[in-house]
Amino acid sequence: MNINDAIAFLSVAATPSIDTFNQAITVIREDTLDAFIATQFKGGNVGSIEVNVSKEVLFRLFERIQQQWMAVGEREPYASVLADGKYMMANIAENLTEFRSSGAMGIQQLQQLAVKNGVNLNYGSCLELGCGVGRLTGYLAHHFKTVTGIDISPGNLRVCAAYLNELGLHNTDLRLMKNLSELETLEGFDAFISFLVIQHNEPPIQKYMLDTVLAKLRPGGVFMFQTIVNAPGYAYSVEGNFNYKDVQGYEMHALPMQHILKIIQKHGLTLLDVLKDRQGGWSVDSYTFFGVNSRND
Ligand SMILES: C[S@@+](CC[C@H](N)C(=O)[O-])C[C@H]1O[C@@H](n2cnc3c(N)ncnc32)[C@H](O)[C@@H]1O
Repeated sequence: MNINDAIAFLSVAATPSIDTFNQAITVIREDTLDAFIATQFKGGNVGSIEVNVSKEVLFRLFERIQQQWMAVGEREPYASVLADGKYMMANIAENLTEFRSSGAMGIQQLQQLAVKNGVNLNYGSCLELGCGVGRLTGYLAHHFKTVTGIDISPGNLRVCAAYLNELGLHNTDLRLMKNLSELETLEGFDAFISFLVIQHNEPPIQKYMLDTVLAKLRPGGVFMFQTIVNAPGYAYSVEGNFNYKDVQGYEMHALPMQHILKIIQKHGLTLLDVLKDRQGGWSVDSYTFFGVNSRND
């Protein structure tokens, strides 16, 4: 049942009065919201999520993530990006247009957040971490002078390169990241974008990536990235490992919000908006963070 069917159903049930209809909708909304808000207090305790490890351990953890994405990118590039049967290789031909169109949300959301927060976007250079098969990259490259797309999945990057070529876009630089430390050698950029990527890495990697990348945001530049900050019952330690694993061949993790806020603060960036989103599914707390580098250096 989609939202229109649901409303139509309720409308019939509430024929006697529009007030009954409104009441029903309000009860459903409040109830759903209450159930959802409650998830924020279950698990995700900062103390039970390890984030500080040595670089040696960090790079070892990263290798596992790399292997997962190497494998899924060869098998099911599109469904590895949006986990839905209709985007599996067997079905992608008839759903490719829909898949690609879904990528407009990246640039649209960036522009909406900029307008909402009174920020003038500088469409110079954009860094997209985890560009996947280019779903967002194509739209970003239509607006930015240059887009650097970094990914760890050769299979996904191949699809991405072919798609950008098909679009006739030649202002992108796609990079296969083999070592996490490559992030340290990146040049500065005017926008940092990342969706559905950071959450697939263990909390120490998430922290390291955000810390390293946000340090390179140029003055006047903006960031807009999404990750999961909490999942019911989620805990993580390098030794005990984690208890929230996706069955599709890659992992899902959470980085408590306070770590994200501290990294933003550490680099003197200004956080302008934090939006609840549904990127990680309903049962987890996923947020999009938007802000600007208002330092003058
Ligand atoms: C679910 S897909 C999302 C792709 C794209 N952001 C989108 O929304 O269409 C996740 C992508 O992130 C990549 N990825 C996962 N961890 C990464 C990391 N640590 N660094 C760079 N890319 C990563 C995967 O290889 C995969 O292509």
